[in-house]
Amino acid sequence: MSTVGELFSVAGKRALVTGGATGVGRMIAEALAMGGAEVMIASRKAEACEAAASEMSEAGHAGRVVGFAGDVSTEAGIDALVAEVAARGASLDILVNNAGVSWGAPLDTFPHAQWERVMAVNVAGMFSLTRGLLPALQAAAGADAPARVINIGSVMGTLPVAEGAYSYAVSKAAVHHMTRILAQELAPMHITVNALAPGPFRSKMTAFATGTEEGAARVGQNVPLGRIGQAEDLAGAILYLSSAAGAYVSGAILPLDGGMSAQAPSHLFANTP
Ligand SMILES: NC(=O)c1ccc[n+]([C@@H]2O[C@H](COP(=O)([O-])OP(=O)(O)OC[C@H]3O[C@@H](n4cnc5c(N)ncnc54)[C@H](OP(=O)(O)O)[C@@H]3O)[C@@H](O)[C@H]2O)c1
Repeated sequence: MSTVGELFSVAGKRALVTGGATGVGRMIAEALAMGGAEVMIASRKAEACEAAASEMSEAGHAGRVVGFAGDVSTEAGIDALVAEVAARGASLDILVNNAGVSWGAPLDTFPHAQWERVMAVNVAGMFSLTRGLLPALQAAAGADAPARVINIGSVMGTLPVAEGAYSYAVSKAAVHHMTRILAQELAPMHITVNALAPGPFRSKMTAFATGTEEGAARVGQNVPLGRIGQAEDLAGAILYLSSAAGAYVSGAILPLDGGMSAQAPSHLFANTP
């Protein structure tokens, strides 16, 4: 390797990004395409995936994007997605487990059903899809060029903050824990497992707060660096973890939150006489 471009390149790598038609997943899919990867995006809405894939493929990136249906909320859906990925190629270099759902309600009325729904997608779906794609990841993996699993966690899985999204915050802590467990178990197969723990980014999920410029600026005031995250922030992190540059990193929960997870009370002893 002789250039920085080569160090961070994902040229020719095969990647799957779940939930890649919108928000964080789309920013990730586009970054991988920019780096030269052959990217598959899949979610429940096949048409949205096909349309987003066409737009990204026509944007002039080095790689290209294809989109199709995939539902990670049920075992049957996961089996179908694994079969679809296998039908398109025997190996998979990069799996980005990005699909996620949330629900917010006050503590005293928080519905039980929104524990089952959120944990099914964010935690069980992530685990079972990874398990199902292990043969394809192993087929791509080598000692010098490990295959990659990148799970999308959250600053809400690191900090004890729910703001009504109880099952979501707990699911993201589970994502971080699963990441470390699988990093340990998959290392002998030359598969790295890492998580991104984003702070606030614009998406469907956060549109209620970041959907307008004013809203995004207000949310940014809660971030030490004074702004919400943007596509470049995700691109840098995903290309690092997916390329030769990140080949020796496994089990990391990478904060991508403008400093939020490093916040603490500014004084411990300020009132000491
Ligand atoms: N935006 C943020 O500030 C932020 C911060 C930290 C972490 N995250 C994480 O980033 C990830 C993406 O969320 P987002 O913020 O970008 O919100 P989003 O735009 O709502 O994206 C969620 C994606 O997941 C897909 N999805 C939902 N259920 C699915 C299922 N059963 N099977 C397959 N795909 C499914 C959705 O597509 P369909 O509706 O077509 O299925 C959608 O593309 C999530 O894991 C979220 O927790 C986001």
